[in-house]
Amino acid sequence: MSLKVLVTGGAGFIGSRVATRLIKDGHQVAVVDNFATGNSKNVPAEATFYQMSIGDAALKDVFAKEKFDVVIHHAAQIDVRKSVENPAYDATVNVLGSLNLLNCIRDYGVKKIVYASTGGAIYGEPQYLPCDESHPIKPLCPYGISKHTVEHYIELYNMLYNLNYVILRYPNVYGHFQNPYGEAGVNAIFIGMMIQGITPTIFGDGSQTRDFVFVDDVVEANMLAMKTDKMGIFNLGWAKPISVNDIYHILQKITGFPNPPIYAEERAGEVNHIYLSPEKIKKELGWEPKVDFEEGLRITTQWFKASPNWYTKPQS
Ligand SMILES: NC(=O)c1ccc[n+]([C@@H]2O[C@H](COP(=O)([O-])OP(=O)(O)OC[C@H]3O[C@@H](n4cnc5c(N)ncnc54)[C@H](O)[C@@H]3O)[C@@H](O)[C@H]2O)c1
Repeated sequence: MSLKVLVTGGAGFIGSRVATRLIKDGHQVAVVDNFATGNSKNVPAEATFYQMSIGDAALKDVFAKEKFDVVIHHAAQIDVRKSVENPAYDATVNVLGSLNLLNCIRDYGVKKIVYASTGGAIYGEPQYLPCDESHPIKPLCPYGISKHTVEHYIELYNMLYNLNYVILRYPNVYGHFQNPYGEAGVNAIFIGMMIQGITPTIFGDGSQTRDFVFVDDVVEANMLAMKTDKMGIFNLGWAKPISVNDIYHILQKITGFPNPPIYAEERAGEVNHIYLSPEKIKKELGWEPKVDFEEGLRITTQWFKASPNWYTKPQS
């Protein structure tokens, strides 16, 4: 069945892949994005595009006109360091913007929301690994707080207004179309630098670990989340740690980059070791990651080489 779907943040890395897949699957797609970090080239040509903030009062006009069945919510301020420097800005985008969106969803009869939350930034330094959905919440940065706060509002809107929902807690997502000049996305940043012959910097000693899932696998989870009748919170992940030093060495092999990394002081707000258990989503929605890490890095490197001017370097 063809659905009318709003993808917020659909000019960004993950949202644009979700929008593209929805169109391929025959759905009607609209994108709302204010280009805070997004790129107009990422928005599929078949999507109806609205350049606006999710916090904008005019968002309700889009809902009145389009009559969406489902909202897939990816628009966010995703920079951990920016959230530490300016928590109010982070909360304005992520919390107040999402509330404006939820009120439009409530007022215009949208049946379901799929929300891109984070597993990497809300559990804090884990008490056990891999983190499952019951792990205590203890964010180390305002970004983790703002992303988690929206989960509460969504669950509340389910109780108050019967809004159906699936919350996906992502680990580190990487892949083609990620911005190599962004502050997040260590793989994209390293690949972008290595193929230009620039030595990347590792903050800390590089032993910190993360769980990395390729963007196409994350898109698949969004499709399952959109279709299911089940509701709840689901972690995505491999339940497997990969260190920043591992990434560097695998990328040296793939790109042929010869230099060792530059090491610099570690940054505030970052977790040392985390990886997530996908057992719940595996059991309930039948999702599991498929693209192995080295294969995903190869696909991403090829894309960066083929699309050198996709993103432009910001003026510093
Ligand atoms: N990339 C990851 O590893 C990761 C991990 C966990 C969770 N997430 C979540 O996934 C979502 C997408 O992340 P991404 O990596 O694609 O980031 P991204 O920065 O590429 O995409 C975010 C998009 O939201 C847009 N945006 C920002 N503020 C907006 C606003 N006020 N109104 C409308 N649009 C706005 C940006 O322009 C951008 O296009 C985010 O919600 C993020 O919190 C990402």
